[in-house]
Amino acid sequence: MKSPFDSLQTTVVLGLVLTVVMVFLVMGIADHGVGAPLPEGHGGIAMFVARWAHVVSGIMWIGLLWYFNFVQVPSMAEIPAELKPAVSKFIAPRALWWFRWAAASTVLFGVVLAGAGGYIVDALALGLTDRGADTSIIGFGIWFALIMAFNVWFIIWPNQKKALGIVTATDDEKKKAARMAFLASRTNLMLSLPMLFAMLGMRHFADLIS
Ligand code: HEM
Repeated sequence: MKSPFDSLQTTVVLGLVLTVVMVFLVMGIADHGVGAPLPEGHGGIAMFVARWAHVVSGIMWIGLLWYFNFVQVPSMAEIPAELKPAVSKFIAPRALWWFRWAAASTVLFGVVLAGAGGYIVDALALGLTDRGADTSIIGFGIWFALIMAFNVWFIIWPNQKKALGIVTATDDEKKKAARMAFLASRTNLMLSLPMLFAMLGMRHFADLIS
């Protein structure tokens, strides 16, 4: 069945639309800019290292997501059949290893940051509890990123294992698995745009909109 996610351009446009919708929702929820004060000195050196580890892992994760969507998937259609195994047997499995562990590490450090900052509950409640634009916007980002991490571990990876022949599957199963993995990956590409906006938005955008 055709999906809007078959088009890379449509997926990116949907991501941008979702970003605008998210900003309007945050404006509707928030009645003041900053609810979660920055910890003294931004939380000290340990918090800074956690923030750095979070962004480093996040770049590895989202960098690979964009590599899959912008480079590998469009190239596969053009690569001659005898060369395809170089991608499916060597490049993709290695990229997927870094992809899923980077996702796990990003979530871990992200949860540490929100937990240590003391606003994780308000954020998960999308700011409806404290009405801060910052907790509302980071909440949207965290939920989008949690959905994306779920997709990586529980949809993309199990289906890619079948599609790439890492576990045995019939040709029909492989085709279905490849389609599922593709749609989940495109969903993540769409979500990555509002998600990153929200990550930056907590400290650098929230006070501009309320
Ligand atoms: C479930 C997953 C995630 C959680 C729980 C999470 C949580 C957070 C939190 C709480 C902050 C605010 C940190 C602070 O200012 O103290 C933050 C900032 C940030 N996050 Fe995430 N995040 C997640 C996923 C991601 C992903 C996938 C990326 C991709 C690169 C990312 C990139 C960033 C960036 C660039 C910042 C800004 C740091 C700053 O302005 O100081 N995050 N994240």
